[in-house]
Amino acid sequence: MALASPPPQTLVVFGASGDLARRKLLPALYDLGYEGLLPERYAIVGSGGSRLDDADFRERARTGVEQFARHRLDDARWRAFARELSYVVAPLDDPGAFGALRERLAGLDADLGAGGRRLFYCATPPSAFPTIVRRIGEAGLGEQARIVVEKPIGQDLASARELDRIAREVFDEPQVFRIDHYLGKEAVQNILVFRFANAMVERAWSRDVVDHVQITVAESVGIEQRGRYYEEAGALRDMVQNHLLQILAFVAMDPPDSLAPEDVRDRKAEVLEAVRPLSPHEVVRGQYTAGVVEGREAPGYRDEQRVGPESTVETFVAARAWIDNARWQDVPFFLRTGKRLPHRTTEVSIALREPERRLFERVGIARLPPHHLAVRVQPDEGISLVFRAKEPGPGMALDAVPMDFSYGNSFRTRSAEAYERLLYDAMAGDQTLFLREDAVERSWEIVAPVLDAPGSVQPYAAGTWGPSAADDLIAPRAWRAG
Ligand code: BG6
Repeated sequence: MALASPPPQTLVVFGASGDLARRKLLPALYDLGYEGLLPERYAIVGSGGSRLDDADFRERARTGVEQFARHRLDDARWRAFARELSYVVAPLDDPGAFGALRERLAGLDADLGAGGRRLFYCATPPSAFPTIVRRIGEAGLGEQARIVVEKPIGQDLASARELDRIAREVFDEPQVFRIDHYLGKEAVQNILVFRFANAMVERAWSRDVVDHVQITVAESVGIEQRGRYYEEAGALRDMVQNHLLQILAFVAMDPPDSLAPEDVRDRKAEVLEAVRPLSPHEVVRGQYTAGVVEGREAPGYRDEQRVGPESTVETFVAARAWIDNARWQDVPFFLRTGKRLPHRTTEVSIALREPERRLFERVGIARLPPHHLAVRVQPDEGISLVFRAKEPGPGMALDAVPMDFSYGNSFRTRSAEAYERLLYDAMAGDQTLFLREDAVERSWEIVAPVLDAPGSVQPYAAGTWGPSAADDLIAPRAWRAG
């Protein structure tokens, strides 16, 4: 089905000279333009404290597009895109600065016939958010607008509530788009289709058939240049509170009444409500020490830039979570994420219960080969079902064999980047893949016991799968992705 273009509007990117804008947002917007998915009439206004002019901003955008866009830079398309880019200097510490922005937006509104429709994108450090909202309010720019906010939303439940209170001074909930970019990933969205469009799968999707679930988000990179941020976040705030719990919600939610945004978000909220707050004795925290990752030497976390030499911030978390509802009672959900693990992989593994064993014991087969269902989110997106088959030949011997779906082989197009999908949805006003405030708050409640009583952090060498306590946590089962 061809998608409609969103209505005419202006997109305002705060923090436009920063990394997120250059690496993700501007390339994603260029790619949307390439696919014909930008509004017929639009403008992109970069804004921030940096003293750039329109030409500087276009030049930065061009280098971002060259390096990071999915489609190669094509001169004619680039010129058309660049014409719509401009920059307004608006330092947040200057209360009058939004006057210039207001003027620019009024002019653009008239030219585009956008009727005040605009999308503000906060690509700034989280601490800038309250001031941005207030300045938008003071300048009277919020009425027809939507605002996109990046995670992390707060540091804990209390600060998330405070941010929401501030946002509500200017915006209503339907105007606020809280991004968790994992929900923009094609293979995460496909979890819902796989489950609800295939009755066979949905019937099997419960404690009757599932022994346990593993969700692994492993990264081989370290903290890159983000020491200052990471020292305040750690893996619990950076990954578990949002990306892992959001994947869990898609895996575990009940079928929604429809695919309309509020129906999907209601079911997600319900399942998060049923997730028991993590118990510190079911959580393992780790921190990487020096090691070798993908053949290259990597420093320990404490030797990274802007990290304290005695830091106890975790770069790895493994947790056992429980969902107290009829579908998942007593089925453990194992969550695992870490930096500087052996390689990058995000995978959901659904381990299946064992069948009646006597049938096979009688013919001398004491143990059946492992079987499970794996949803690969990245890289090599796809789904595999590993099931048991009879080996050809006389007698009865079993082997595990895969049934494999991979996006690369089945669909000819390359998946869009998460930010393309999410920017498109935000411009079109569809909140399905964005976080609702109740889900954000509940996610903070789920991790709160561990934030409040952190316990010890165990070292693991870069290039390994985390501390051995993570294996003890899942025993007698074993982690699958790896
Ligand atoms: C971000 C985290 O939200 O997600 C980063 O802040 C992490 O620490 C990143 O590296 C991972 O995203 P992706 O899309 O590369 O898996």
